[in-house]
Amino acid sequence: MFGETVLKEIDEIRVKYPDRRSALLPSLYIAQREFGWLSQEAMQCVAKALNLSESIVRGTASFYSMFKHKPVGRHLIQLCTNVSCMILGAERLVDFLGNKYGLQPDGTTEDGRLSLVVMECIGACGTAPAMLINTDFYDNLSEKRIEEILEKYK
Ligand code: FES
Repeated sequence: MFGETVLKEIDEIRVKYPDRRSALLPSLYIAQREFGWLSQEAMQCVAKALNLSESIVRGTASFYSMFKHKPVGRHLIQLCTNVSCMILGAERLVDFLGNKYGLQPDGTTEDGRLSLVVMECIGACGTAPAMLINTDFYDNLSEKRIEEILEKYK
């Protein structure tokens, strides 16, 4: 269940729009922030807070790749493997993450530190390969650079 503070935050968003459906995406984002991922229960909380049907909430949440539908590690790596990144070594980086950290696509390290999702273009083709860690952006990636970056994410 959402606490009073979160319900107030969602209500403040809801009143900004003439249609409560418009508050759905930011409310789902809040739910993911609060629960770490969008479980059935989390989506039910959003539906209740906005007085929307659960099917509308579930249908919207399942459309967007930024919403997680299973638990993820403390830090989520979203590595682009689309054309520009692939040409410049993204698949080699996926192998590196597997070999060095035991991290497979759609997987989480045993200690719950890192999760990995491979994704489509994140708009940094000119400085590929690129990735996000949580909401932080990194480009011009190499094995060495990833190793250095990951030192910041314990
Ligand atoms: S293809 Fe990777 S950022 Fe565009």
